[in-house]
Amino acid sequence: PRTRPRALLARSAPAVAALLLLAGCSGAGGVDGTPGSAGLRDPYFPKLGNGGYDVQHYALKLAYDPKTRRLDATAEITATATQNLSAFNLDLSGLTVRDAAVDGARAAVSRAGKELTVRPRDEIDKDAVFRTTVAYSGVPETITDPDGSEEGWLPTADGALAVGEPTGSMAWFPGNHHPSDKATYEITLTVPAGLKALSNGRLVSERTEKGRTTAVWSAPEPMASYVATVAIGRYTTGTAKVRAGTAADVPVLTAVDPSAADAETAALAARVPEILDWQAENFGPYPFSAAGAIVERPGDLGYALETQTRPLFPRTAFDTPTLVHELAHQWYGDSVTPKSWRDMWLNEGFATYAEWLYAEDFEDTPAQESFDEAFDDDSNWAFPPADPPSAENISDAPVYGRGAMVLHKLRQTVGDETFYEILRGWPAKYRYANASTDDFTAYAESVAGEDLDEVWDVWLYGNGRPTDPEG
Ligand code: ARG
Ligand code: ZN
Repeated sequence: PRTRPRALLARSAPAVAALLLLAGCSGAGGVDGTPGSAGLRDPYFPKLGNGGYDVQHYALKLAYDPKTRRLDATAEITATATQNLSAFNLDLSGLTVRDAAVDGARAAVSRAGKELTVRPRDEIDKDAVFRTTVAYSGVPETITDPDGSEEGWLPTADGALAVGEPTGSMAWFPGNHHPSDKATYEITLTVPAGLKALSNGRLVSERTEKGRTTAVWSAPEPMASYVATVAIGRYTTGTAKVRAGTAADVPVLTAVDPSAADAETAALAARVPEILDWQAENFGPYPFSAAGAIVERPGDLGYALETQTRPLFPRTAFDTPTLVHELAHQWYGDSVTPKSWRDMWLNEGFATYAEWLYAEDFEDTPAQESFDEAFDDDSNWAFPPADPPSAENISDAPVYGRGAMVLHKLRQTVGDETFYEILRGWPAKYRYANASTDDFTAYAESVAGEDLDEVWDVWLYGNGRPTDPEG
Protein backbone atom coordinates (compact mmCIF):
# COMPACT_ATOMS: atom_id res chain seq x y z
CA PRO A 1 0.00 0.00 0.00
CA ARG A 2 1.25 3.38 -1.06
CA THR A 3 -0.19 5.38 1.84
CA ARG A 4 -1.88 4.63 5.13
CA PRO A 5 -5.47 5.81 5.53
CA ARG A 6 -5.70 9.39 6.77
CA ALA A 7 -7.79 8.53 9.77
CA LEU A 8 -5.17 6.16 11.12
CA LEU A 9 -2.44 8.75 10.70
CA ALA A 10 -4.48 11.34 12.51
CA ARG A 11 -4.95 9.00 15.42
CA SER A 12 -1.38 7.95 15.75
CA ALA A 13 0.14 11.05 17.37
CA PRO A 14 -2.29 11.25 20.31
CA ALA A 15 -2.03 7.48 20.68
CA VAL A 16 1.73 7.73 21.07
CA ALA A 17 1.32 10.58 23.56
CA ALA A 18 -1.19 8.54 25.53
CA LEU A 19 1.18 5.57 25.63
CA LEU A 20 4.00 7.79 26.86
CA LEU A 21 1.69 9.22 29.49
CA LEU A 22 0.71 5.74 30.65
CA ALA A 23 4.37 4.77 30.82
CA GLY A 24 5.06 7.83 32.94
CA CYS A 25 7.77 8.96 30.55
CA SER A 26 8.90 12.51 31.03
CA GLY A 27 11.94 12.81 28.75
CA ALA A 28 13.48 16.08 27.63
CA GLY A 29 10.94 18.84 27.66
CA GLY A 30 8.54 16.67 29.66
CA VAL A 31 5.45 15.30 27.96
CA ASP A 32 3.52 14.46 31.10
CA GLY A 33 3.40 17.82 32.83
CA THR A 34 0.05 18.91 34.18
CA PRO A 35 -0.98 22.37 35.37
CA GLY A 36 -0.30 23.21 39.01
CA SER A 37 -3.47 23.67 41.04
CA ALA A 38 -5.11 27.09 41.38
CA GLY A 39 -5.37 26.91 45.17
CA LEU A 40 -4.08 25.09 48.24
CA ARG A 41 -7.52 24.36 49.71
CA ASP A 42 -7.10 26.53 52.75
CA PRO A 43 -10.21 25.96 54.90
CA TYR A 44 -11.06 29.69 54.74
CA PHE A 45 -9.45 30.79 51.45
CA PRO A 46 -9.45 27.71 49.18
CA LYS A 47 -8.09 29.55 46.12
CA LEU A 48 -5.28 31.25 48.04
CA GLY A 49 -1.83 30.03 47.02
CA ASN A 50 -1.07 27.68 44.17
CA GLY A 51 0.06 24.08 43.82
CA GLY A 52 2.89 22.55 41.84
CA TYR A 53 5.76 24.74 42.97
CA ASP A 54 7.40 26.17 46.04
CA VAL A 55 8.81 29.71 45.95
CA GLN A 56 12.34 30.24 47.30
CA HIS A 57 12.85 33.91 46.56
CA TYR A 58 11.03 37.00 45.38
CA ALA A 59 12.96 39.90 43.85
CA LEU A 60 10.44 42.72 43.52
CA LYS A 61 11.16 46.04 41.85
CA LEU A 62 8.43 48.57 42.50
CA ALA A 63 8.29 52.17 41.29
CA TYR A 64 5.43 54.13 42.87
CA ASP A 65 4.14 57.61 42.22
CA PRO A 66 1.85 58.78 45.05
CA LYS A 67 0.38 61.51 42.81
CA THR A 68 -1.00 59.14 40.19
CA ARG A 69 -1.09 56.16 42.61
CA ARG A 70 0.47 54.14 39.84
CA LEU A 71 2.78 51.23 40.42
CA ASP A 72 5.23 50.03 37.74
CA ALA A 73 6.81 46.79 38.71
CA THR A 74 8.58 43.59 37.93
CA ALA A 75 8.56 40.47 40.04
CA GLU A 76 11.23 37.83 39.62
CA ILE A 77 10.15 34.65 41.33
CA THR A 78 12.57 31.77 41.90
CA ALA A 79 10.74 28.54 42.64
CA THR A 80 11.18 24.77 42.70
CA ALA A 81 8.68 22.62 40.81
CA THR A 82 7.04 20.01 43.02
CA GLN A 83 5.61 18.18 39.99
CA ASN A 84 6.13 18.19 36.23
CA LEU A 85 4.47 21.44 35.22
CA SER A 86 2.86 22.37 31.91
CA ALA A 87 1.52 25.58 33.50
CA PHE A 88 1.19 27.13 36.94
CA ASN A 89 -0.74 29.89 38.65
CA LEU A 90 0.19 33.03 40.53
CA ASP A 91 -2.23 34.99 42.73
CA LEU A 92 -2.65 38.59 41.60
CA SER A 93 -5.55 40.92 42.31
CA GLY A 94 -6.03 43.90 39.98
CA LEU A 95 -3.12 45.44 38.04
CA THR A 96 -2.22 44.72 34.41
CA VAL A 97 0.35 42.16 33.39
CA ARG A 98 2.50 43.41 30.52
CA ASP A 99 4.43 40.24 29.91
CA ALA A 100 5.95 37.21 31.55
CA ALA A 101 8.90 34.93 30.97
CA VAL A 102 10.10 31.66 32.43
CA ASP A 103 13.85 31.10 32.47
CA GLY A 104 14.23 33.92 29.98
CA ALA A 105 11.73 32.58 27.42
CA ARG A 106 8.52 34.49 26.81
CA ALA A 107 5.60 32.72 28.48
CA ALA A 108 1.89 32.92 27.73
CA VAL A 109 -0.22 34.42 30.51
CA SER A 110 -3.95 34.38 30.96
CA ARG A 111 -6.08 35.87 33.66
CA ALA A 112 -9.24 34.69 35.41
CA GLY A 113 -10.14 36.82 38.41
CA LYS A 114 -7.29 36.66 40.92
CA GLU A 115 -5.61 33.73 39.20
CA LEU A 116 -2.85 34.37 36.70
CA THR A 117 -1.93 31.30 34.66
CA VAL A 118 1.58 31.17 33.26
CA ARG A 119 2.29 28.68 30.48
CA PRO A 120 6.03 28.36 29.90
CA ARG A 121 7.35 27.60 26.42
CA ASP A 122 9.02 24.44 27.74
CA GLU A 123 7.46 22.30 30.40
CA ILE A 124 9.18 22.35 33.78
CA ASP A 125 10.46 19.10 35.27
CA LYS A 126 9.70 18.14 38.85
CA ASP A 127 12.43 19.40 41.21
CA ALA A 128 13.72 21.91 38.67
CA VAL A 129 14.45 25.40 39.93
CA PHE A 130 12.90 27.93 37.56
CA ARG A 131 12.70 31.70 37.39
CA THR A 132 9.53 33.53 36.41
CA THR A 133 9.59 37.21 35.55
CA VAL A 134 6.36 39.17 35.49
CA ALA A 135 6.17 42.82 34.38
CA TYR A 136 3.03 44.54 35.65
CA SER A 137 1.59 47.95 36.40
CA GLY A 138 -1.50 49.87 37.38
CA VAL A 139 -3.18 51.41 40.39
CA PRO A 140 -3.02 48.75 43.11
CA GLU A 141 -6.25 48.10 44.93
CA THR A 142 -7.33 48.20 48.54
CA ILE A 143 -9.06 44.94 49.45
CA THR A 144 -11.89 44.80 51.98
CA ASP A 145 -11.53 41.72 54.18
CA PRO A 146 -14.35 39.33 54.98
CA ASP A 147 -14.42 41.07 58.40
CA GLY A 148 -14.71 44.54 56.88
CA SER A 149 -11.15 45.73 57.58
CA GLU A 150 -8.88 46.99 54.80
CA GLU A 151 -5.69 45.48 53.45
CA GLY A 152 -3.70 45.30 50.25
CA TRP A 153 -2.42 48.66 49.03
CA LEU A 154 -3.51 51.63 51.15
CA PRO A 155 -2.78 55.07 49.68
CA THR A 156 -1.93 57.69 52.32
CA ALA A 157 -1.68 61.50 52.20
CA ASP A 158 1.91 61.40 50.97
CA GLY A 159 2.60 57.78 50.07
CA ALA A 160 1.20 54.31 50.58
CA LEU A 161 1.21 51.26 52.85
CA ALA A 162 1.10 47.62 51.86
CA VAL A 163 -0.39 45.16 54.36
CA GLY A 164 -1.33 41.60 53.62
CA GLU A 165 -3.17 39.74 56.37
CA PRO A 166 -4.78 37.48 55.30
CA THR A 167 -4.86 37.87 51.49
CA GLY A 168 -3.78 41.45 50.66
CA SER A 169 -0.29 40.91 49.29
CA MET A 170 -1.69 39.79 45.94
CA ALA A 171 -2.75 43.44 45.46
CA TRP A 172 0.87 44.47 44.94
CA PHE A 173 2.79 41.48 43.63
CA PRO A 174 2.06 38.17 41.89
CA GLY A 175 3.04 35.11 43.89
CA ASN A 176 2.11 32.12 45.94
CA HIS A 177 0.17 34.00 48.59
CA HIS A 178 -0.64 31.20 51.02
CA PRO A 179 1.20 31.42 54.37
CA SER A 180 2.55 27.88 53.85
CA ASP A 181 4.88 29.00 51.05
CA LYS A 182 7.53 31.11 52.74
CA ALA A 183 10.42 32.64 50.81
CA THR A 184 13.22 35.18 51.11
CA TYR A 185 12.73 38.64 49.59
CA GLU A 186 14.59 41.50 48.02
CA ILE A 187 12.34 44.52 47.63
CA THR A 188 13.54 47.49 45.59
CA LEU A 189 11.43 50.63 45.91
CA THR A 190 11.66 53.73 43.73
CA VAL A 191 9.74 56.80 44.92
CA PRO A 192 9.86 60.58 44.36
CA ALA A 193 12.88 62.14 46.11
CA GLY A 194 11.96 63.53 49.52
CA LEU A 195 9.95 60.46 50.49
CA LYS A 196 11.22 57.44 52.36
CA ALA A 197 10.59 53.97 51.04
CA LEU A 198 10.61 51.35 53.81
CA SER A 199 10.17 47.61 53.73
CA ASN A 200 11.13 44.43 55.59
CA GLY A 201 14.65 43.50 56.60
CA ARG A 202 17.87 45.39 56.12
CA LEU A 203 18.49 48.42 53.96
CA VAL A 204 21.09 47.34 51.41
CA SER A 205 21.40 50.62 49.53
CA GLU A 206 19.62 53.90 49.02
CA ARG A 207 20.38 56.52 46.41
CA THR A 208 18.73 59.50 44.83
CA GLU A 209 19.08 60.22 41.14
CA LYS A 210 17.10 62.46 38.79
CA GLY A 211 14.50 63.26 41.38
CA ARG A 212 13.84 59.69 42.44
CA THR A 213 15.06 57.71 45.42
CA THR A 214 15.67 53.98 45.13
CA ALA A 215 15.97 51.86 48.26
CA VAL A 216 16.88 48.18 48.23
CA TRP A 217 15.69 46.04 51.17
CA SER A 218 16.80 42.50 51.86
CA ALA A 219 14.83 40.03 53.97
CA PRO A 220 17.12 36.99 54.05
CA GLU A 221 15.05 34.90 56.47
CA PRO A 222 11.98 33.13 55.07
CA MET A 223 8.82 35.25 55.18
CA ALA A 224 5.16 34.56 54.50
CA SER A 225 3.79 37.03 51.96
CA TYR A 226 1.12 38.33 54.36
CA VAL A 227 3.80 39.93 56.53
CA ALA A 228 5.67 41.50 53.62
CA THR A 229 5.26 45.27 53.67
CA VAL A 230 5.98 48.57 51.98
CA ALA A 231 5.67 51.95 53.70
CA ILE A 232 6.19 55.04 51.57
CA GLY A 233 5.96 58.54 52.99
CA ARG A 234 7.66 61.15 55.11
CA TYR A 235 9.04 59.60 58.27
CA THR A 236 11.06 60.62 61.27
CA THR A 237 13.48 57.76 61.73
CA GLY A 238 15.56 56.49 64.61
CA THR A 239 18.19 53.78 64.76
CA ALA A 240 19.50 51.57 67.53
CA LYS A 241 20.97 48.10 68.05
CA VAL A 242 19.76 45.14 70.02
CA ARG A 243 21.32 41.79 70.90
CA ALA A 244 18.11 39.96 71.95
CA GLY A 245 19.87 36.64 72.42
CA THR A 246 21.45 36.59 68.95
CA ALA A 247 25.11 36.15 68.04
CA ALA A 248 25.53 39.66 66.63
CA ASP A 249 23.86 43.02 67.14
CA VAL A 250 20.61 43.43 65.21
CA PRO A 251 19.98 46.89 63.69
CA VAL A 252 16.74 48.51 64.84
CA LEU A 253 15.03 51.05 62.59
CA THR A 254 11.96 52.91 63.78
CA ALA A 255 10.00 55.29 61.55
CA VAL A 256 7.21 57.61 62.64
CA ASP A 257 4.91 59.67 60.46
CA PRO A 258 5.58 63.36 61.29
CA SER A 259 1.96 63.85 62.38
CA ALA A 260 2.48 61.10 64.98
CA ALA A 261 6.00 62.14 66.04
CA ASP A 262 5.15 63.37 69.54
CA ALA A 263 7.23 62.77 72.67
CA GLU A 264 5.14 59.81 73.76
CA THR A 265 5.59 58.03 70.43
CA ALA A 266 9.31 58.73 70.42
CA ALA A 267 9.64 57.38 73.97
CA LEU A 268 7.81 54.18 73.15
CA ALA A 269 9.67 53.66 69.85
CA ALA A 270 12.91 53.94 71.82
CA ARG A 271 11.78 50.97 73.95
CA VAL A 272 11.79 48.45 71.07
CA PRO A 273 15.27 47.12 72.02
CA GLU A 274 14.47 46.55 75.71
CA ILE A 275 11.19 44.81 74.90
CA LEU A 276 12.95 42.55 72.39
CA ASP A 277 15.61 41.74 75.02
CA TRP A 278 12.90 40.78 77.52
CA GLN A 279 11.14 38.67 74.87
CA ALA A 280 14.37 36.93 73.90
CA GLU A 281 14.81 35.86 77.53
CA ASN A 282 11.36 34.32 77.52
CA PHE A 283 10.87 33.22 73.89
CA GLY A 284 14.45 32.44 72.80
CA PRO A 285 16.78 34.37 70.47
CA TYR A 286 15.17 37.01 68.25
CA PRO A 287 14.72 35.23 64.90
CA PHE A 288 15.60 37.96 62.36
CA SER A 289 18.56 40.06 61.26
CA ALA A 290 16.67 43.35 61.45
CA ALA A 291 14.07 44.89 63.75
CA GLY A 292 12.02 48.01 64.29
CA ALA A 293 8.56 49.54 64.10
CA ILE A 294 6.65 51.93 61.82
CA VAL A 295 4.02 54.30 63.24
CA GLU A 296 1.40 55.84 60.96
CA ARG A 297 -0.84 58.85 61.00
CA PRO A 298 -4.19 58.07 62.65
CA GLY A 299 -6.69 56.96 60.02
CA ASP A 300 -4.18 55.62 57.48
CA LEU A 301 -4.34 52.11 58.91
CA GLY A 302 -7.14 50.56 60.97
CA TYR A 303 -5.06 48.10 63.01
CA ALA A 304 -1.52 47.13 63.88
CA LEU A 305 0.15 44.34 61.91
CA GLU A 306 3.18 42.16 62.65
CA THR A 307 4.92 42.86 59.33
CA GLN A 308 8.17 40.91 59.53
CA THR A 309 11.05 42.65 61.29
CA ARG A 310 9.18 45.98 61.21
CA PRO A 311 5.60 45.87 62.51
CA LEU A 312 3.18 48.63 61.51
CA PHE A 313 1.04 50.63 63.96
CA PRO A 314 -1.52 53.33 63.60
CA ARG A 315 -0.61 56.09 66.09
CA THR A 316 -3.87 55.32 67.88
CA ALA A 317 -2.72 51.74 68.61
CA PHE A 318 0.92 52.52 69.38
CA ASP A 319 0.88 51.67 73.07
CA THR A 320 2.89 49.29 75.26
CA PRO A 321 0.58 46.23 75.05
CA THR A 322 0.24 46.50 71.27
CA LEU A 323 3.98 46.99 70.82
CA VAL A 324 4.63 43.92 73.00
CA HIS A 325 2.00 42.03 70.97
CA GLU A 326 3.39 42.82 67.51
CA LEU A 327 6.98 42.21 68.59
CA ALA A 328 5.96 38.84 70.10
CA HIS A 329 4.52 37.93 66.68
CA GLN A 330 8.07 38.02 65.31
CA TRP A 331 8.52 34.66 67.10
CA TYR A 332 4.90 33.48 66.97
CA GLY A 333 3.49 34.01 63.50
CA ASP A 334 6.45 35.33 61.56
CA SER A 335 9.19 32.82 62.42
CA VAL A 336 6.81 29.91 63.10
CA THR A 337 3.91 30.53 60.73
CA PRO A 338 0.48 28.86 60.60
CA LYS A 339 0.08 26.02 58.10
CA SER A 340 -3.37 27.34 57.27
CA TRP A 341 -5.57 30.23 58.35
CA ARG A 342 -7.34 27.84 60.72
CA ASP A 343 -4.22 27.90 62.86
CA MET A 344 -4.29 31.65 63.40
CA TRP A 345 -4.83 31.26 67.16
CA LEU A 346 -1.19 30.07 67.24
CA ASN A 347 -0.33 33.66 66.25
CA GLU A 348 -2.86 35.61 68.22
CA GLY A 349 -3.10 33.43 71.33
CA PHE A 350 0.69 33.60 71.82
CA ALA A 351 0.92 37.34 71.07
CA THR A 352 -1.93 38.02 73.51
CA TYR A 353 -0.32 35.81 76.15
CA ALA A 354 2.90 37.80 75.64
CA GLU A 355 0.90 40.88 76.72
CA TRP A 356 -0.24 39.00 79.84
CA LEU A 357 3.33 37.96 80.63
CA TYR A 358 4.53 41.53 80.18
CA ALA A 359 1.83 42.82 82.53
CA GLU A 360 2.86 40.13 85.03
CA ASP A 361 6.56 40.99 84.87
CA PHE A 362 6.29 44.79 84.74
CA GLU A 363 2.85 45.94 85.80
CA ASP A 364 2.00 43.87 88.87
CA THR A 365 -0.84 42.20 87.03
CA PRO A 366 -0.55 38.41 87.39
CA ALA A 367 -1.45 36.51 84.21
CA GLN A 368 -4.24 34.96 86.29
CA GLU A 369 -5.90 38.37 86.48
CA SER A 370 -5.73 38.79 82.71
CA PHE A 371 -7.10 35.25 82.37
CA ASP A 372 -10.02 36.00 84.70
CA GLU A 373 -10.87 39.14 82.76
CA ALA A 374 -10.79 37.23 79.46
CA PHE A 375 -12.82 34.42 81.00
CA ASP A 376 -15.55 36.87 82.01
CA ASP A 377 -15.68 38.47 78.56
CA ASP A 378 -18.59 36.95 76.61
CA SER A 379 -17.01 37.79 73.24
CA ASN A 380 -14.26 35.23 73.91
CA TRP A 381 -16.77 32.38 73.96
CA ALA A 382 -18.33 32.70 70.50
CA PHE A 383 -16.41 29.68 69.13
CA PRO A 384 -13.38 27.50 69.92
CA PRO A 385 -10.14 29.31 69.01
CA ALA A 386 -8.94 26.64 66.59
CA ASP A 387 -12.19 26.60 64.66
CA PRO A 388 -13.55 30.00 63.55
CA PRO A 389 -16.91 29.46 61.83
CA SER A 390 -15.91 31.40 58.70
CA ALA A 391 -13.30 33.67 57.11
CA GLU A 392 -14.93 36.72 58.62
CA ASN A 393 -14.16 35.41 62.13
CA ILE A 394 -10.46 34.56 61.90
CA SER A 395 -9.50 37.79 63.71
CA ASP A 396 -12.31 37.65 66.28
CA ALA A 397 -11.95 37.75 70.06
CA PRO A 398 -11.79 33.96 70.73
CA VAL A 399 -8.72 33.62 68.47
CA TYR A 400 -6.96 36.15 70.71
CA GLY A 401 -8.42 35.93 74.20
CA ARG A 402 -9.36 32.29 74.30
CA GLY A 403 -6.15 31.41 72.48
CA ALA A 404 -4.26 33.05 75.35
CA MET A 405 -6.47 31.21 77.86
CA VAL A 406 -5.37 27.89 76.30
CA LEU A 407 -1.76 28.84 77.01
CA HIS A 408 -2.53 29.91 80.56
CA LYS A 409 -4.25 26.58 81.25
CA LEU A 410 -1.31 24.77 79.70
CA ARG A 411 1.02 26.71 82.02
CA GLN A 412 -1.07 25.83 85.08
CA THR A 413 -1.09 22.17 84.10
CA VAL A 414 2.60 21.68 83.30
CA GLY A 415 4.13 24.27 85.63
CA ASP A 416 6.26 27.30 84.85
CA GLU A 417 9.49 25.51 84.05
CA THR A 418 7.99 23.24 81.41
CA PHE A 419 5.76 26.03 80.13
CA TYR A 420 8.70 28.35 79.44
CA GLU A 421 10.51 25.45 77.82
CA ILE A 422 7.54 25.09 75.48
CA LEU A 423 7.40 28.86 74.82
CA ARG A 424 11.06 28.82 73.79
CA GLY A 425 11.15 25.42 72.14
CA TRP A 426 8.14 25.91 69.87
CA PRO A 427 9.57 28.76 67.76
CA ALA A 428 12.98 27.05 67.84
CA LYS A 429 11.69 23.72 66.54
CA TYR A 430 9.66 25.37 63.77
CA ARG A 431 12.00 28.29 63.10
CA TYR A 432 11.20 29.82 59.66
CA ALA A 433 8.73 26.99 59.02
CA ASN A 434 4.99 26.31 59.22
CA ALA A 435 3.09 24.50 61.91
CA SER A 436 -0.48 23.50 62.67
CA THR A 437 -2.56 23.20 65.82
CA ASP A 438 -1.88 19.45 65.85
CA ASP A 439 1.84 20.14 65.62
CA PHE A 440 1.53 22.37 68.67
CA THR A 441 -0.46 20.02 70.86
CA ALA A 442 1.89 17.15 69.96
CA TYR A 443 4.93 19.31 70.70
CA ALA A 444 3.59 20.50 74.05
CA GLU A 445 2.81 16.91 75.06
CA SER A 446 6.26 15.75 74.03
CA VAL A 447 7.95 18.41 76.16
CA ALA A 448 5.59 17.85 79.11
CA GLY A 449 5.90 14.08 78.80
CA GLU A 450 2.19 13.70 79.41
CA ASP A 451 -1.14 13.59 77.65
CA LEU A 452 -2.79 17.01 77.81
CA ASP A 453 -6.20 16.16 76.34
CA GLU A 454 -7.92 17.66 79.35
CA VAL A 455 -6.50 21.06 78.48
CA TRP A 456 -7.21 20.81 74.75
CA ASP A 457 -10.69 19.30 75.06
CA VAL A 458 -12.03 22.06 77.27
CA TRP A 459 -10.01 25.16 76.40
CA LEU A 460 -8.97 24.64 72.77
CA TYR A 461 -11.80 22.61 71.27
CA GLY A 462 -14.68 22.86 73.73
CA ASN A 463 -17.84 24.72 72.83
CA GLY A 464 -18.86 27.41 75.27
CA ARG A 465 -17.57 28.66 78.59
CA PRO A 466 -16.83 26.00 81.22
CA THR A 467 -18.74 26.54 84.43
CA ASP A 468 -15.54 26.46 86.46
CA PRO A 469 -12.60 28.68 85.43
CA GLU A 470 -10.35 26.45 87.55
CA GLY A 471 -11.53 23.35 85.67
N1 ARG B 1 -2.64 40.28 63.15
C1 ARG B 1 -2.95 41.62 63.54
C2 ARG B 1 -2.62 41.67 65.01
O1 ARG B 1 -3.26 41.05 65.82
C3 ARG B 1 -4.35 42.04 63.27
C4 ARG B 1 -4.75 42.02 61.85
C5 ARG B 1 -6.15 42.42 61.66
N2 ARG B 1 -6.53 42.18 60.32
C6 ARG B 1 -7.78 41.92 59.94
N3 ARG B 1 -7.97 41.62 58.70
N4 ARG B 1 -8.75 41.95 60.79
O2 ARG B 1 -1.67 42.21 65.41
ZN1 ZN C 1 -1.82 39.79 66.67
